[in-house]
Amino acid sequence: MEEKDKWTLVGSAAELVKELESNGGLKEISFDGKKIVLTYFENKFGALNSKCNHMGGPLAKGKLKNGCVECPWHYWQFNHATGESLSVEASKHFTSSAGSVPHFPIKLEEGSLFINLAEESKRIPAVFNMKGNLSREPKREPGKIRVLGISTTAMDKEHPRFSTSEELLKTALDQSARHFDVETKLIALSDLKIRNCEGFYSKSERACTWPCSITKMDPSDEMSVIYENLVHWADVVILSSPIRWGGASSLYYKIVERLNSVQNQITIKNKVLIQNKVVGLIITGGQDNIQSVAGQMLAFFGELGFMAPAFPYVAHSLGWSAEDMERNMDFVKSSEFLHEESLKLVGRTVELARKLNA
Ligand code: FES
Repeated sequence: MEEKDKWTLVGSAAELVKELESNGGLKEISFDGKKIVLTYFENKFGALNSKCNHMGGPLAKGKLKNGCVECPWHYWQFNHATGESLSVEASKHFTSSAGSVPHFPIKLEEGSLFINLAEESKRIPAVFNMKGNLSREPKREPGKIRVLGISTTAMDKEHPRFSTSEELLKTALDQSARHFDVETKLIALSDLKIRNCEGFYSKSERACTWPCSITKMDPSDEMSVIYENLVHWADVVILSSPIRWGGASSLYYKIVERLNSVQNQITIKNKVLIQNKVVGLIITGGQDNIQSVAGQMLAFFGELGFMAPAFPYVAHSLGWSAEDMERNMDFVKSSEFLHEESLKLVGRTVELARKLNA
């Protein structure tokens, strides 16, 4: 008998139907070391290779929805009988082609279900429609030291107003090109539409991918701007943040959660994407908690691979009992000391970046 004519007994069809119907329509079976997701939908069995086309998520641990197996990691869907992905238009969750996962022929004979393991169809790989080429190896391009400012203050662009932290960052960057012979770029997080981190990491550490699975699924997600500039472009990153209830700005935490995909590469692959880069901080608030905010931010950026110079932050607050915010803005606006110190901070980070890249 030819290999392709070999059929393996799965079990009694009636019992399988009963089990599958009480189990959401799918279950994992395995033969010869192959993990298979067995399904039953509208009187029809299906058998797919259980490895998802995206990052290898376990399809058998997913859900059966309208005849499609939905991966538990990032929700990609595949026809339960053919393995074909949902069309781009039909899926809310991704805009690139998800290809198809292999399926196995099955047959019913005398009340029993059989599967042909030798006739597994071919996998058609997914095609991503991601902006840019984030997955390239980070490699410093020749040229001047590049300083990236990231302003994390949350601001309505329709009704802009004065931000003390952004003011110090902006003026320091403006003067840096002249003082330190560097290239500079300022990104305000409030200008970007960044999707929330969905914590895929908590499903499996391998579900948190680089480039980030959200960026791969959704080309409109503008976290790609941060990834591109922070991982590939900058030698120095200066973050500015207000103090909000004793912590950094909410937009700062939004990108921190999304940067888990960078840190996770170290955890799961021992791959350090951030090398020879330097971080500095500008922190301002009406009330206090500067050391705690700076400590938290430095700890996280250190975990990404950034280094900090001696005296890694410039900060200002009026203190715990201050509620006079107009006075705070005027103070920062007119403070030569804070403006000078912010510029000197950039100078220290640039000097360290030069040494690291020498
Ligand atoms: S959707 Fe299956 S691994 Fe991402």
